Amino acid sequence: MSNLGIRRVAVLGAGTMGHGIAEVFAMSGFEVNLMDVSDEILRNALNRIRDSLERLSRRGELREGVDAIMSRIHTTTKVAEAVRDIDFLVEAVPENADLKKSIFREADQYAPPHAIFASNTSTIPITELSEATSRREKFVGMHFMNPPPLMKLVEITRGKYTSDDTVNITVQLTRILNKEPVVVNKDVPGFIVNRVLFRVMLEACREATQEGIKIVDLDAMARNVLGLPMGTFELLDYIGLDTSLFIVKAMTERGFKAHSCPLLEDLVSKGKLGVKSGEGFYKYPGPGQYVKPRVLPEQGLELDPIRLMAPAINELAWLVREGVATVDDIDKSVKLGLNYPWGLSEFADEAGIDNIVDALTQLKNASGWEEYEPDPLLTNYVKEGRLGRKSGRGFREYPGVEFRRYEEIMLRIDPPSAWIILNKPDKLNVLTPKMADEIVNALRSVEDDPRVRVVVITGSGRAFCAGADINQFQNATPMQMFKAMRHYHSMTLEIEYYTKPVIAAINGYAVGGGLEIAMACDIRIASEDAMLGQPEVNLGIIPGAGGTQRLTRLTNLGISKELILTGKQISARAALGYGIVNRVVPKHALEYEVTRWVKELASKPPLTLMLAKYAINYGFEAPIWSALNNEASLFGVAISTKDAQEGVKAFLEKRKPKFTGE
Ligand code: COA
Repeated sequence: MSNLGIRRVAVLGAGTMGHGIAEVFAMSGFEVNLMDVSDEILRNALNRIRDSLERLSRRGELREGVDAIMSRIHTTTKVAEAVRDIDFLVEAVPENADLKKSIFREADQYAPPHAIFASNTSTIPITELSEATSRREKFVGMHFMNPPPLMKLVEITRGKYTSDDTVNITVQLTRILNKEPVVVNKDVPGFIVNRVLFRVMLEACREATQEGIKIVDLDAMARNVLGLPMGTFELLDYIGLDTSLFIVKAMTERGFKAHSCPLLEDLVSKGKLGVKSGEGFYKYPGPGQYVKPRVLPEQGLELDPIRLMAPAINELAWLVREGVATVDDIDKSVKLGLNYPWGLSEFADEAGIDNIVDALTQLKNASGWEEYEPDPLLTNYVKEGRLGRKSGRGFREYPGVEFRRYEEIMLRIDPPSAWIILNKPDKLNVLTPKMADEIVNALRSVEDDPRVRVVVITGSGRAFCAGADINQFQNATPMQMFKAMRHYHSMTLEIEYYTKPVIAAINGYAVGGGLEIAMACDIRIASEDAMLGQPEVNLGIIPGAGGTQRLTRLTNLGISKELILTGKQISARAALGYGIVNRVVPKHALEYEVTRWVKELASKPPLTLMLAKYAINYGFEAPIWSALNNEASLFGVAISTKDAQEGVKAFLEKRKPKFTGE
């Protein structure tokens, strides 16, 4: 069967997990002794296994017949009989320490001395259970996910006495079962998956209870912004609210620092247990009848994704720093155990570790909860400048990220995006003719780079750009200023008519020339603390880099006159209301939001985006008959691309298109 010398396996407990685990072993060719307390439970388990195998067989996922697999499962109600001649044992009886210990004690008496014992517990310390046996070094945690035949992940937990051999054998055995093992090197409550899961859930719960954010909006954000397959509360309903509460309590009793969720306790006390009882956070058509809660695509977009995930990233840092698990294994755990589309370290590196620390600090200050204290691993990374992708290194290294330094800006090429970073933070990134030239040069330098599909312009430090350097206006001649303004116009036109989409990531002040640069971009995403305005009149001058024209195009004459004639600065939220920016997000979520836009735009056919941009921009300035004629012509150009043929064909063939940019 296997070169591990494992042929016969006992599975103790034939309930939800036990029967699934027995099925997994039998499918991989092991002889399985399945034990439970009554013949009826065992009969029921065999029926469920057969049903599941038949489903798998219909989908062509079995290498042999259902009967052949079933013939390897032997049932008994006696521990002594179940463990005779076995090489490996998995215990999956109810989560009660005394019950588990008494079963292990009995199994220990009758099982051959070489047999390894594993517990599928999710809440009881492996060390404590192992102490009920005389084979502590041959005792290990082996936590399958529900349902075992479908879920790939198995958490293998080392107890205090577990030998390396036992861990290695269990890891190899897990691979033979066609599962993915992750090793949990210390017997911590909740292992990896539950620790991460409940960090997210408890923060969602805090936001719902303390801030009154609607549950459905938080779930919408998890799906629409984070791209998670299920919302947090939806998942709790799915797991079962009583089960979830039980796990959280068991974890906190054993030292997992967390505040409980009053919403969860309240629902459980009312018998609302989630999908299984027909109602939990959501209502279902009937007990056990799961229907996915409906969320609209635009729902939850204003909520803070970084804050929801930051406690889980803090947990990642703790697990890594304590040597409980590797970054790779933790990423694997959330991808395979929770079906997240990304690993936690990937998320943290993309969002920016400084932003995660910022979110945690805010949470800690607002709640006073100790569990939100940023882990030293994260704060040290920030001190070292290990901020994630943007610095080329975070939890992981990004050798593909390239930095090009100019005098007043920096260019970071991080395919599919290139970031132009206005880089004079001490002077709030003031605009000079030199900076304008460097922006143009940077844009041109990546124009023909097919890896770069979107350009982002942002500022370093606390400002996007505080406008033209006022020093240049002192004693300037009219002709000098005419030329300088023409210079700025070339730069903004270069941005506006660039062949790829350009996003302004407005991280702070965008005033004067700063707002004028942002307005030349295609999309503007602003941090909620950003201030925008055209303050030139306060200096006795008027906007000169397109402000009098582009503001009217984004808003209207009235708003433009209000802003330009008063020179006042407005908040990002007000700018959103006027249509000057597309989105406003919390400061620490700006990079994540911009990256989301980058990914979305980069998934579209690039030539088509260019043509659409030209149809809009040139058309806007032309009489409608000319603009429509231009649109028709560009439509003709669009249809000539390979991507258009592919897009249309893929739609008709009901598949995702593969765009090549041709
Ligand atoms: N030109 C030259 N220097 C500028 C500048 C500009 N447009 N905007 C900011 N700075 C400099 C400041 O002089 C200061 O330099 P210092 O540290 O050597 O004194 C530094 O940048 C930081 O600015 P500061 O004014 O101290 O920051 P703040 O947070 O108090 O105020 C602003 C921020 C944006 C409100 C303020 O700097 C401002 O009003 N700037 C001018 C904006 C403007 O009129 N732009 C249009 C120009 S046409």
